Amino acid sequence: MKTAITRSEQLKAKPDETKLGFGTIFTDHMFNMDYTPEKGWHDPRIEPYAPIPMDPSTMVLHYGQAVFEGLKAYRNGEGGTQLFRPQENFDRLNRSCHRLCIPEMDPGFALEALKELLRIEEKWVPSEPQTSLYIRPTVIATDPFLGVRASFTYRYFVILSPVGAYYAEGFNPVKIWVTKDHVRAVRGGVGNTKTIGNYAASLYAGEEAHKAGYTQVLWLDGIEQKYIEEVGAMNIFFVIGDEIVTPELSGSILPGITRKSVIALAQHWGMKVAERKISIDEVVAAHEAGTLKEIFGSGTAAVISPVGELKYGDRILTIGNGSVGPTALKLFESLCDIQYGKADDPMGWIEPV
Ligand SMILES: Cc1ncc(COP(=O)(O)O)c(C=O)c1O
Repeated sequence: MKTAITRSEQLKAKPDETKLGFGTIFTDHMFNMDYTPEKGWHDPRIEPYAPIPMDPSTMVLHYGQAVFEGLKAYRNGEGGTQLFRPQENFDRLNRSCHRLCIPEMDPGFALEALKELLRIEEKWVPSEPQTSLYIRPTVIATDPFLGVRASFTYRYFVILSPVGAYYAEGFNPVKIWVTKDHVRAVRGGVGNTKTIGNYAASLYAGEEAHKAGYTQVLWLDGIEQKYIEEVGAMNIFFVIGDEIVTPELSGSILPGITRKSVIALAQHWGMKVAERKISIDEVVAAHEAGTLKEIFGSGTAAVISPVGELKYGDRILTIGNGSVGPTALKLFESLCDIQYGKADDPMGWIEPV
């Protein structure tokens, strides 16, 4: 398939790169492609960024049949643009599609199309430290129909947004609130896919945490509310004694690409890493015993997000004096150095645009 290109006649002014927030500014162009049962995925095109007109009965608006991805394009030291493990995102997008009864697409084509879009939007990749061009591939169900079934037609689109730090705190410890009242996902459900309803389901507890002065929620498992799953929209790691522990992928946890990279890097450095069940009680006990050294989240948006405080019921656990721990710092710096091309890429994770 060849991607048709229609260039925007009026380019937008570029933002001040020193003041970038997250997800508020969008570039001049977007990628679009449609699916029908007769034609399959067809009509790939790069067009001016524009609204998507929809019939009010469009299925995605009613039943949430939609999946998405999140990755970033980084400006490297030579002024070029590069991606971090992008094929992993397109493979995960296809797994999400499969679970949501959405037809899968050719992941190699999707990556090539993204690179084509990025070459057109090259000037939108910011260069200030810790900035990047966030990439949001999305698939939505487009049949105008109110019955509950999988849609026959779909739209795939990719939009781009220059971004700075995800959390206002930057790379500083965040305060986390453990919820027992709400769960994010259940085994056998869709927690291990990047589908829009998971995020809607997470909002209520997130708001409660904010009201209580906490940045994010620590999610426990949906059956016993005992085992730790994720933190906000990130995977979670604990340093207990000399071991890094992260919840095993249970079916209700999103298999993060940063998570996979943290595990690979730590093992590459000779650190002990365990993927296993870890209960909130074990974390509290390790804190009491003085063996809980660090907690941090991992995800594309914030890379590594150290946790300085955990509130669980009436208890407030201060983690590592509330400051950034050495493991979180080393992982953050190493991942950023690879992503921005400041260090060697021993794992072959970088894809030039
Ligand atoms: C629920 C959830 N968990 C974990 C992650 C981290 O995944 P990744 O490292 O691929 O960004 C994300 C973000 O994509 C997420 O939305």
